[in-house]
Amino acid sequence: MVPTLATVADLDELIGYYRTPPAGVRANMIFSADGAAAFAGRAGPLSDPLDQALLRGLRGFADVVLVGAGTVRAEHYGPVRVQAMSHGWAPGRPIPPIAVVSLSGVLPDSLFADPAQRAILVTTQRAADAHGLKADDRRDVLIAGERTVDVSEVVARFRERGLNRILCEGGPTLLDELVAADVVDEICVTVSPTLAGVQDIGHGAAALTSPRRMRLDHVLTHADYLYLKYSRHR
Ligand SMILES: NC(=O)c1ccc[n+]([C@@H]2O[C@H](COP(=O)([O-])OP(=O)(O)OC[C@H]3O[C@@H](n4cnc5c(N)ncnc54)[C@H](OP(=O)(O)O)[C@@H]3O)[C@@H](O)[C@H]2O)c1
Repeated sequence: MVPTLATVADLDELIGYYRTPPAGVRANMIFSADGAAAFAGRAGPLSDPLDQALLRGLRGFADVVLVGAGTVRAEHYGPVRVQAMSHGWAPGRPIPPIAVVSLSGVLPDSLFADPAQRAILVTTQRAADAHGLKADDRRDVLIAGERTVDVSEVVARFRERGLNRILCEGGPTLLDELVAADVVDEICVTVSPTLAGVQDIGHGAAALTSPRRMRLDHVLTHADYLYLKYSRHR
């Protein structure tokens, strides 16, 4: 299949390319041009309003949103906002729940701000026993795995519940596990026109105080590879 190469003007046009998620795991991530997934502990500095609108809009095509607890804590996750999914979510369809993978069960209150939207805590029996992680009126609990959460089992359990279209919003740790388990069916990657550098350099080297903005010079493709060139924006 020949890949689509296009320039888009707005969210309507952009999201049109994402309307058919796989029955399985779709991952969505942004990386700086030098491969960082975050700047100063957040993905936001790498992103822009259109990318953020895409992230929210993709939820409209999903049955469940899967995310690691590190991301929920770093990004202060809240409930899914229906208005933000207007491109994909049809009224009457259930709002996709947010399923958070965690052994500690330490999740911000912001996640539970809408009593009508119950989150799903995905954990192990051992962690549930150790930390008293029980289902309550704010969350459901899904047990999968022994020592750590078995992400293949999570995918299988979602499927049993009819939650086939699984949107994983990261972070890198959870994505690594999904990749290692070979259950990623699709990955949507945004490359940010920035350099972020290593955030925790040590040895007295200075880190950037904000991402270095670059200019996109070309986008080339051959044999499914993308060849991008960025240069310093003066
Ligand atoms: N660039 C992007 O697109 C993007 C996307 C998302 C996040 N981020 C950034 O990534 C950073 C967070 O990433 P991260 O890799 O540290 O976090 P993460 O993958 O979101 O979460 C890691 C945490 O999830 C839980 N976890 C993950 N896999 C598990 C398993 N198999 N079994 C049990 N628990 C599991 C653990 O939670 P407990 O500690 O609670 O046990 C673990 O500490 C933040 O800076 C965020 O801004 C970037």
